[in-house]
Amino acid sequence: MKHRIALAGCGNVGTALLELLHEKKDELKAKYSFEYDVVLISDIIKGTVANKSGLDLEAVLNELHQHNSFAALKQDSGSLGELMKRYGATVLAECTPTNLKTGEPGLSHIREALSSGISVTTTNKGPLAVAFDELKAAAEQSGAKFLYEGVVMSGTPLIDMIRNGMAGCSVSGVEGILNGTTNFMLTKMGSGATYDEALKEAQALGYAEADPTGDVEGWDAAGKVVILTKILFGKDIAVTEVDRTGITQVTPQQVSSAAQKGNVIKLIAGVDLDETGLHPYVKPREIAASHPLAQVGGAVNAVTVKTDNLGDVTLIGPGAGRRETGQALLSDIIRMGN
Ligand code: HSE
Repeated sequence: MKHRIALAGCGNVGTALLELLHEKKDELKAKYSFEYDVVLISDIIKGTVANKSGLDLEAVLNELHQHNSFAALKQDSGSLGELMKRYGATVLAECTPTNLKTGEPGLSHIREALSSGISVTTTNKGPLAVAFDELKAAAEQSGAKFLYEGVVMSGTPLIDMIRNGMAGCSVSGVEGILNGTTNFMLTKMGSGATYDEALKEAQALGYAEADPTGDVEGWDAAGKVVILTKILFGKDIAVTEVDRTGITQVTPQQVSSAAQKGNVIKLIAGVDLDETGLHPYVKPREIAASHPLAQVGGAVNAVTVKTDNLGDVTLIGPGAGRRETGQALLSDIIRMGN
């Protein structure tokens, strides 16, 4: 079966998915018997392009790379739900910006798709942070697949590792670096950049959220802690229940005075479960240069999962980035099978 892909949100990550699909078309077919048409792309700023027989990705990508717009292409209009039906989508890749309070607009998009039997892959943390059970139930009811590898650690397969590789383990907690933007900024500040320079560069490289306040105030990492708490322990917490401090108060002077002591400052996030309950947190912490997380620089993330059967397992890999997050969507769609 050929996947008929609809894309909601064609920013950095959505565009990267299109690039990967296009570049790897032959390889995907040869290796996985994976075939696709992209039938619909809808973006609140760029507009909507669609074709029942599959869009010409070469032409779409040219427009995106040259003009960052669909203005020169034939456009369609309508709600995403109507358009997905009109163009016969079988998979929705949902990459609109994260809103951790309401989950919108991604939540409505995903609800619409799953209730119509359209499978979903998403990198959007909002819908999972606010409506995990509802969306999982909607997928079970309609038989659609619902995958979201990219919501934590971009394409680094933490969720697959926990779900599949660690099946049978009991987990008592996780801890690590869960936000690429702030880790990149702290690394840059360690080599002399100001806070503002470091943030601008993180935005230019596509690491930061549409509203970077979410990164620097620790909300993004807190949203990831909420999602991991659900996946690991089956427990619901609100993002406001995470004991959260961002890096807005961390100055280059603090970073360099830590360095003079041989230490580094990192934004550490995690959650532990013990007899007194759940302890979710996001906090800047000064750690010794010999600490395993001290060597994790730039937009790289690292997470240690504390298990009974395996002891501690640490996964290190990209935590943000266009192509790295596009890879999460691609691997989800391949895993959906033919
Ligand atoms: N803004 C996020 C980060 C993107 O910097 O980690 C990946 O979730």
